Amino acid sequence: MDMKERICEKFRSLFGTDGELFASAGRINLIGEHTDYNGGYVFPGAIDKGIIAEIKVNGTGKVRAYSLDYDEYVEFGLEEKDKPSQSWACYIFGVCRETAKRGGKVEGFDTMFAGDVPLGAGLSSSAALESTYAFALNTLFDNGIDKFELAKIGQSTEHNYCGVNCGIMDQFASVFGKKGALIRLNCKTLEYKYFPFDPVGYKLVLVDSCVKHELASSAYNKRRASCENAAAAIRRNHPEVEFLSDAKRVWLEEVRSEIPEEDFLRAKYVIGEVQRVLDVCDALERGDYETVGEMMYQTHFGLSRLYEVSCEELDFLNRLARKCDVTGSRVMGGGFGGCTINLVKEELYDDFIGQAKEKFTAKFGHEPKIYDVVISDGARRL
Ligand code: GLA
Repeated sequence: MDMKERICEKFRSLFGTDGELFASAGRINLIGEHTDYNGGYVFPGAIDKGIIAEIKVNGTGKVRAYSLDYDEYVEFGLEEKDKPSQSWACYIFGVCRETAKRGGKVEGFDTMFAGDVPLGAGLSSSAALESTYAFALNTLFDNGIDKFELAKIGQSTEHNYCGVNCGIMDQFASVFGKKGALIRLNCKTLEYKYFPFDPVGYKLVLVDSCVKHELASSAYNKRRASCENAAAAIRRNHPEVEFLSDAKRVWLEEVRSEIPEEDFLRAKYVIGEVQRVLDVCDALERGDYETVGEMMYQTHFGLSRLYEVSCEELDFLNRLARKCDVTGSRVMGGGFGGCTINLVKEELYDDFIGQAKEKFTAKFGHEPKIYDVVISDGARRL
């Protein structure tokens, strides 16, 4: 039985009726990491792994929610004081609250959901969950909230109900994702452009280290604070700098002695990364995958040495990719574990995957997981 059928069957047996089906997707990001909350560019796309939810308005003031994957049932009210203790339910609760804060109507509903986005792999299973419900509530209650605001509902859910001070990339990709296209988003102006992505002769493959770091969200928030500190120092000399992405490398050098060295290194990475996104988009339009790949390696170096969000396992996978002549490879997403994203020539794919499994397992005692991803549609009604 596929995921949709399992949801429908269980929904009917638990709630005695049928609801409507909605879905959204996890995401990859080709390049542009930790740039979103710095007002820079990102270049993500939605993937063929996501969340499906069935929902039916129940005429009460309560949400009755069931997670098929956790095999867990939770009930909660819709007032601020009603926040549930289960973290998966907090995402749904947060989306209800953030919708209401924007003047949207939200009443009680019954819901059941399941997903196939691997958890903790850096593929934004939480954004998939948030955008599924943001989109579903907007449709069911006919709220007319625009798509950007739906993405922001997910982002504010992370900020206000889940303790992660994230940028807009994941929720944006999950809401705006389109089959076969990556989307370059300017996170300052919110202008975006779809780029068809069909690298003939290449494959995009994720290698999941299966490492999950505790405290990743506090380390993430700390990176963000470092960037804001560096931007504030630069702003004293250059008032036009609203976000770190507005700064030039030389402006950062000017304040090097005024800020902690750690903040300097974080900022140096971000300023370089913003430019790399533009370079990758230009290279893609020329069909120049060698340049795309080289930029990915540069990003990995920056994330590992300057931003320090990689780990031994991910650095190992990155070096192995180089040895196997993989065109581009880097840690993807927030870091602190999760996946590398690899752009690899089709004829080298089997050798790379074979070696990644064998050598990684020999060194770390567990096999990495391999995900071939297809760029797909984001939030939608099924
Ligand atoms: C996480 C956050 C995003 C973004 C990435 C890093 O996925 O949710 O907003 O900052 O990390 O690029």
